[in-house]
Amino acid sequence: MISVDGISGDDFAGAGLRRLGTLPQHDLLTLAGDWLGELAPWRNTGSLAAISTSLSAESVLASLFVFGEPVAEADARAGVPGPLLDLLLRARVLSEESGKLSADYCLVRGDGMSLLAAWRAAGRDTGSYAPWVGTDSMTLSRLVAARRRARTALDLGCGTGILGLSAARNGADVVSVDVNPECLAAATFNAHLNGLGDRLTAVEGDIMSLALDSRFDLVVSNPPCLPLRRGSLGWLAGEAGLDGLEFFWELLRRVPDLLTEDGEALLQAAAYGDERGPFFVPELEAELRRLKVSGRLLLRPSTPPRWPAFAPRDENQQLTGVLGDEVREYVTSIGATHYYGFVLSVRSGDGLEVGRFQ
Ligand SMILES: C[S@@+](CC[C@H](N)C(=O)[O-])C[C@H]1O[C@@H](n2cnc3c(N)ncnc32)[C@H](O)[C@@H]1O
Repeated sequence: MISVDGISGDDFAGAGLRRLGTLPQHDLLTLAGDWLGELAPWRNTGSLAAISTSLSAESVLASLFVFGEPVAEADARAGVPGPLLDLLLRARVLSEESGKLSADYCLVRGDGMSLLAAWRAAGRDTGSYAPWVGTDSMTLSRLVAARRRARTALDLGCGTGILGLSAARNGADVVSVDVNPECLAAATFNAHLNGLGDRLTAVEGDIMSLALDSRFDLVVSNPPCLPLRRGSLGWLAGEAGLDGLEFFWELLRRVPDLLTEDGEALLQAAAYGDERGPFFVPELEAELRRLKVSGRLLLRPSTPPRWPAFAPRDENQQLTGVLGDEVREYVTSIGATHYYGFVLSVRSGDGLEVGRFQ
């Protein structure tokens, strides 16, 4: 598992880490295409050939981080500068077995940045599931990138660090919090990978029991929001209660104490509803009133109610097993027919405005 213990900013800079950022990478938009059955980079023999005739260091690194192919350590040492290879081994993003090196993480391009992420982000279920980065991360990252005035930012549940790094690229000093040390190490690594190592501070913390006494111009969070009872999967996956909103409500309650006077919070999650919109709007209005803040709710186009991807299904695609039964009963009991992804912007003021992503 990745670790940045004992690796200094000078170590990162001296290793020429930014070279990784020039590699062809898993592009999240390409990946969206892959899910639709189109060509992904590793299936495209043209791009593979183009890469394998490029500089040998790039070819070794691309084999490892883009194609997920192990490389003989001797070949890697012949091509890749020693300090870079040593740093990657020291940070345990590369592992060695029987004289072969392999990458435990892939490289993705996220909104103009290069990010080390779990292979699952490149459509492969190997190794760790954290730090995940997906199209949800990209949407929020773009909203963060448009907030150019923030001097300080807080990213809660930072994963790869993408959201905080988006703010850091605009000059913000960022505190990135996650409960998972693997994500904190990845966020730190990714900050250095993008030349932003001095702008990001990674802090271990739990959103549900946050103890921060600073205020920030921008607070951003893409928290766990799987609509499953917390703890039901038995591993740190991102369950957020049967309505998927437990982390969202907790974050909303904390936001007023975390924002500067003109600050803004961007919170992403998803909620059940019907064709008229999500059910939680009246409760949200009341909570915003109680907290004395205003909200702008941007809704994505709705999808059918979200079923747990992990629950077994029968031949008719009906959920089976305890997990499935519990969620199906819940969704039926509340009469949900739609499921809306959303981003809520919170500022000082009052009232709730509801709009849609264009
Ligand atoms: C949906 S991912 C979002 C990651 C990243 N912000 C992004 O947008 O790509 C949620 C993140 O929250 C973290 N997380 C889960 N439970 C948490 C908790 N109780 N406190 C803080 N972070 C948590 C996970 O480790 C994961 O990195």
